[in-house]
Amino acid sequence: MSAKRIDGKLISDFFRAEFKLRVARLIERGTRPGLAVVIVGSDAASQVYVRNKARACESIGIYSEVHALSADVSQDELTAFVESLNQNPAIHGILVQLPLPKRIDDRAVIEAISPDKDVDGFHYANMGALVIDESRFPPCTPYGVMKMLEYEGIAVEGQHVVIVGRSNIVGKPQAMLMLKAGGTVTVCHSKTRDLARFTRDADILVAAVGKAGMITGDMIKPGAVVIDVGINRLPDGKLVGDVDFESASAVASAITPVPGGVGPMTITMLLGNTLRAAEFCAVPGGRMNETMIA
Ligand code: GUN
Repeated sequence: MSAKRIDGKLISDFFRAEFKLRVARLIERGTRPGLAVVIVGSDAASQVYVRNKARACESIGIYSEVHALSADVSQDELTAFVESLNQNPAIHGILVQLPLPKRIDDRAVIEAISPDKDVDGFHYANMGALVIDESRFPPCTPYGVMKMLEYEGIAVEGQHVVIVGRSNIVGKPQAMLMLKAGGTVTVCHSKTRDLARFTRDADILVAAVGKAGMITGDMIKPGAVVIDVGINRLPDGKLVGDVDFESASAVASAITPVPGGVGPMTITMLLGNTLRAAEFCAVPGGRMNETMIA
């Protein structure tokens, strides 16, 4: 079997076209959606991600500003800065690029973001909403995975979904979204014994561990759908995922490549969440209506 390659760029373009129309409609009504991205220090990979996020905003008419703060900014200065963005009416979404320097308490910074502007969906209020019911801002990467499956007509209901990785950014919220979609969910991680025993039973396998090529074809059930969230840079500079694409493609029915798979979808869902934050502000009474769920 040679797996269908799921094209994240194509699917992103589909959603971005819809978002662009919604942005134009909001601008006509007097609100231009705005995103503030805060980056601390000079991590090269983070700088590339942040630049790509800002560019993507501009491409669909969302205003964006990038705040590059010095690596020695204090915790108090950083939280005060986030609070100033909470008060800024031109800014509907705030994203603090992670990881932050080790001496800064990530959680305290995330909690300083207004839950109404938390377009990453990392605030306790939004994570809690994700677990209990409808979250306004599902975290962008797992949300992007759900939208890719939806676009491809791949049903989750009744399927065994195995997620490898239990991070707050991907693994845990992915599990919640898959549960909501009716999947039977198993979450594996670094302490899981005999990982292949679980991955081989997956109808949908999501790899989010950050280890180049660790999921190989022999760990995949014939016909499974494989979603590769990993982005790893090899010593020669090449970008690869957590899945060994060649051996996995021979077994799976559909697979996302790296690059060009989940990556573009993460940014697209950030645009969607920023747009939704602005729509929320623009609706009289500040209530979101159902049609706004992307
Ligand atoms: N670093 C890696 N992924 C993410 C993300 O989705 N959001 C933020 N804020 N930082 C990240």
